[in-house]
Parts: sequence; C-alpha cells; structure tokens
Amino acid sequence: MENKIRVLISKEDVEARIQALADQISREYEGRILHLVTVLKGGVFITTELAKRLTVPVTMDFLTASSYGSGTVSSGNVKVVQGLRESLMGKDVLLVEDIIDSGNTLKTLKAQLLQQEPASLKLLTLLDKPSRRTVEGLTVDYCGFTVPDEFIVGYGLDYAEKYRNLPYIGILEFEE
Ligand code: IMP
Ligand code: MG
Repeated sequence: MENKIRVLISKEDVEARIQALADQISREYEGRILHLVTVLKGGVFITTELAKRLTVPVTMDFLTASSYGSGTVSSGNVKVVQGLRESLMGKDVLLVEDIIDSGNTLKTLKAQLLQQEPASLKLLTLLDKPSRRTVEGLTVDYCGFTVPDEFIVGYGLDYAEKYRNLPYIGILEFEE
C-alpha cells in the first residue's frame, strides 16, 4: 500500500533557509577553515547544499552512527559504526545531522568527537523536534526548522530507506 506524503516545507523554502544558514556560518567562521562532519546517511543532503553556499574554505568527513534498542525509538546506546578518516584535533568542526529527535545520537556523538580535541565543535541540524527531547543540555547551534511530532521524510530523511531523495520535506501519512 502506498503511503501519502503531505508537503510540510517546500523545496524553495528549504533552499532559502539553507542559504540563510550558509550566510550566517560564513560570517561567523570568516578567516577559518570549516571541517564539516556529516552523520550518514540523512545528513548528506543538507551538507552538500550548505557546503555549496559557504564562502569559507571547507573540508569534509563522514561517520555512521547506529542506535540499538527496542522498537523505533532511539535508545541511549549509540555506536559509531563507521568512523572518520581524519583526526579532528585542532579543527573547527561543524557536526551536521538531518534531525534531532530524542537527542541521544547527537549527545553521544558530541561527547565522542570532543575526545579528539577539536579547536571548536558546533552542531547543525536541518530539523529539530524539541517536543521529543529526552536528553538534557544539548545545545543546537544552527537549526533549519523546528518540526511537529510527526514522521518526517525527504531531504535526507527516510522511512525504511525510502523517500530520502525527495527535494522537499514532508509528513508521512500512514494508511489505516
Ligand atoms: P535521536 O537520537 O532520537 O535524536 O534520533 C535521531 C535519528 O532518528 C535521526 O538521525 C533520524 O535518523 C531518526 N529520526 C528521528 N525522527 C525521524 C523522522 O521523523 N523521520 C525520519 N527519521 C527520523
Ligand atoms: Mg539519521
């Protein structure tokens, strides 16, 4: 059975927001090299759109995180499955994620990456669902959009690996 997708944020609105974030980040990192660390797979779409619009020099790396636990809710047990190619030591790092839900993934990743002693470490997420947060003390430095507690797809976000390539952000409506 086909699921219906309702457009939440249009392609034009996503792209305009990414441009605004890129302008802000380019100003704030002027004179420095920004090392983008993308959380695969969902973070790829926002990362490339952002990187193309940045005016500061950029380097990039990628990691895969996995959270094990029961059901569809992310557990606190987050593991880096595929690690970075280069050390973060002394770099100005921006960790890029598609969505923050409970916050478990980013909180754990942030603590792990800080052990490599980057010069700075900030967080960027395309989407934030603050109503679902269970961890405390997670500062989101850059956020594209705050979204309601719905199942979101598109622009990197998947449902069973589908819909990542939608050029807009939508709400997946499950058929009864
Ligand atoms: P957290 O650890 O609970 O913050 O979970 C973050 C991860 O859960 C994201 O990287 C997504 O892969 C996934 N996720 C959370 N909410 C959604 C959603 O609405 N649609 C698709 N994936 C989601
Ligand atoms: Mg993800």
